[in-house]
Amino acid sequence: MASDNEWIHESPEITELKRKALRVAKSKVPVLLTGENGTGKEVLAHFIHNNSASKEIIDKKPFIIVNCGAIPEDLIESELFGYEKGAFTGADHTKEGAFEMANGGTLFLDEIGELSLNAQVKLLRAVEYQSFRRLGGKEEIKVDVRIISATNVILHDAIKSGDFRQDLFYRLNVIELYIPALRHRKDEIPLLTEHFLKVFSEKYNIGKLYIEEDCLTCFKKYNWPGNVRELKNIIERCVVLSKDGVIDRDVLPSQIATEDCMNTQHIKSGSRPSGKKFLEIEIGTPFDEIEKKVIQQTLSSCNNNKSEAANILGVSRKTLHNKLHKYESTPDNGN
Ligand SMILES: Nc1ncnc2c1ncn2[C@@H]1O[C@H](COP(=O)(O)OP(=O)(O)O)[C@@H](O)[C@H]1O
Ligand SMILES: [Mg+2]
Repeated sequence: MASDNEWIHESPEITELKRKALRVAKSKVPVLLTGENGTGKEVLAHFIHNNSASKEIIDKKPFIIVNCGAIPEDLIESELFGYEKGAFTGADHTKEGAFEMANGGTLFLDEIGELSLNAQVKLLRAVEYQSFRRLGGKEEIKVDVRIISATNVILHDAIKSGDFRQDLFYRLNVIELYIPALRHRKDEIPLLTEHFLKVFSEKYNIGKLYIEEDCLTCFKKYNWPGNVRELKNIIERCVVLSKDGVIDRDVLPSQIATEDCMNTQHIKSGSRPSGKKFLEIEIGTPFDEIEKKVIQQTLSSCNNNKSEAANILGVSRKTLHNKLHKYESTPDNGN
């Protein structure tokens, strides 16, 4: 059976990353996982947890996930630290938070860059002292929790703009493990494709599947802004749409099955690789203008989808929004 939680890799960068992850797994130091959305940060967090002790021990240890970006600001503290009965209107029973649930195991704080400044202060204290109080509680609760956090944005920018506390950053980032984007390790695409084909042919009970060579060529040419998650979703789609066990170009979505990619024989050597867009910038252009151009072109290349553009550029949606706002108030010089 192909497992859906396996960490599949073969590129030298990821093999080295795995070695490093195995070394840090045995210690309790906080680890910060960085990389774009869909690169496999959650897979890596599970890998670290699973390798932190022997199988018999780890099976009994909790792995708790808190997605800081998905929980409203006013609920995040109760999610992390729990609350006492009567702490606020509607608190009709005492509830454990994620820190307590993760006691003895791992707490995975996903999208840490989205955490409010208020919650950051409390988190810093809890991580530093491994102790906290439930909301409305007087008793100090001690825990033994391994913290793994993850972010798809560059936290240095958030620190500069005052959205992320520097002290918390240093506390969480004792070890940083960076997962490169899929477009920078395209040599892994065939292996990942093969793995996901197995996963989905088992899921949909389809039997053996064959993928035509030109589909793989298209996969290698495409830029994968959504990284491995996007590849996985597209393979699921291909498997569902496949006829007689064959995946051909007809089942590929249009953004992947481009003319450009089908007519590979027409690409002359020495020309720029197709599928990629370039921006020409005159020497002497001020940084601000370069930044503006890069942002505008990235936005237009992803149909003005701000989340996708922010992801590609490695900044938070908030940072992108602020920069766009800044440009709106500066006149365009027509370039
Ligand atoms: N190297 C990999 N091997 C197998 N599956 C992977 C790999 N990287 C990512 N995935 C799959 O892609 C999806 C996105 O991965 P995830 O860890 O959630 O990414 P992130 O947390 O960085 O957004 C998940 O379904 C995961 O199982
Ligand atoms: Mg994730």
